[in-house]
Amino acid sequence: MTQAQLAQGTSPLLAVRDVSVVFGGIVALNGVSFDMHKGQILGLIGPNGAGKTTLFNCLSRLYQPSSGNILMEGASILTRPPHRIAEIGIGRTFQNVALFPNLSVMDNVRVGTHARTSSDIISDSLRLAWIRRSESEVNKKVHEILAYLDLEDVAHTVVSGLPFGTQKRVELARALAADPKILLLDEPAGGLNHEEVYALGDLIRRIRDDRHMTVLLVEHHMGLVMSIADHVVALNFGKKLAEGTPAQVQADPEVIKAYLGSKDQ
Ligand SMILES: Nc1ncnc2c1ncn2[C@@H]1O[C@H](COP(=O)(O)OP(=O)(O)O)[C@@H](O)[C@H]1O
Ligand SMILES: [Mg+2]
Repeated sequence: MTQAQLAQGTSPLLAVRDVSVVFGGIVALNGVSFDMHKGQILGLIGPNGAGKTTLFNCLSRLYQPSSGNILMEGASILTRPPHRIAEIGIGRTFQNVALFPNLSVMDNVRVGTHARTSSDIISDSLRLAWIRRSESEVNKKVHEILAYLDLEDVAHTVVSGLPFGTQKRVELARALAADPKILLLDEPAGGLNHEEVYALGDLIRRIRDDRHMTVLLVEHHMGLVMSIADHVVALNFGKKLAEGTPAQVQADPEVIKAYLGSKDQ
C-alpha cells in the first residue's frame, strides 16, 4: 500500500469544496470539489479552457473564488493574501518561468527561502546574531537544494543564459527552498522535449518520495500525468468530469469524449 493510500483514511491535507469562479459572464469553475492527501501526486487534467489554471490560481490565492472554500489542514486559506501562502506550506511554480532573469541561480533560490524566514529592515540593519545564524542556515539550505536538483555547476550563472529546461529546474528549486508541504506545478512539461518530460516526471516522483512532498500537477500532457500521478481529477468546462486512478480516468467515456472533442490532446 502506498503512503498516499494509507493517508486516505485521515483528514485531507488540502480540501477544495464546491469552488466556483465567475469572470463577468463566464463560469470558469463550477462547483469543483476534491481532496488532496499527504504524499499524493494529484494530476489535474482537462482540455484547454477547462479551468485548470483558474483552480491553480485559487489555490495560490491569485484568484478569489466566487463561492466555495479551500482548506489547508482544516483551515480556510481564503482570508490569506497571496504573499502569506508560503508560510502555511503552499509552494508554487508558474506556467511560464517567472524567475529573476538577471540574478544567478543561487540568488533566485535564495529568494525562495525568504518566504519562510522572517526578518525586517530594522533587524537586518542591526545585524543581530540570530539574523547571522539564520543567514548561514539559508546558505546551507540553498546549497543542499542546488545539489539535490543537480544545479551546483550553474549556481553562479545568470538565469537568462540557461536553457529553458534548466530554468524550469531552478524554478522548482526556488519553490522547494520555502520548504512547502504541498507543491503546486502549473504545466511543468510545457515547452520541454520528450526526454526532458520523462526526466521531469522522474524528478517530481523523487521529490515526493525523498522530501515527503504532496504535489498538485496541473498538466495538459496526458502521458506525464498518467505515468506519475496516484490520483487524477479531470475538468471540462469548469466542472469535475471524473476522478480516480489514472487508469480509471483514462478509461472514462466522458474524459475520452472531452479530449477527442478538443483540438489539443
Ligand atoms: N482572468 C480571466 N478573465 C476572464 N476569463 C478568464 C480569466 N482566466 C480564465 N478565464 C476563462 O476561464 C476559462 C478557464 O480558463 P483556464 O482556467 O485558463 O483554463 P485551462 O488552464 O484549463 O486552459 C476559460 O474560458 C477562460 O477564457
Ligand atoms: Mg492553463
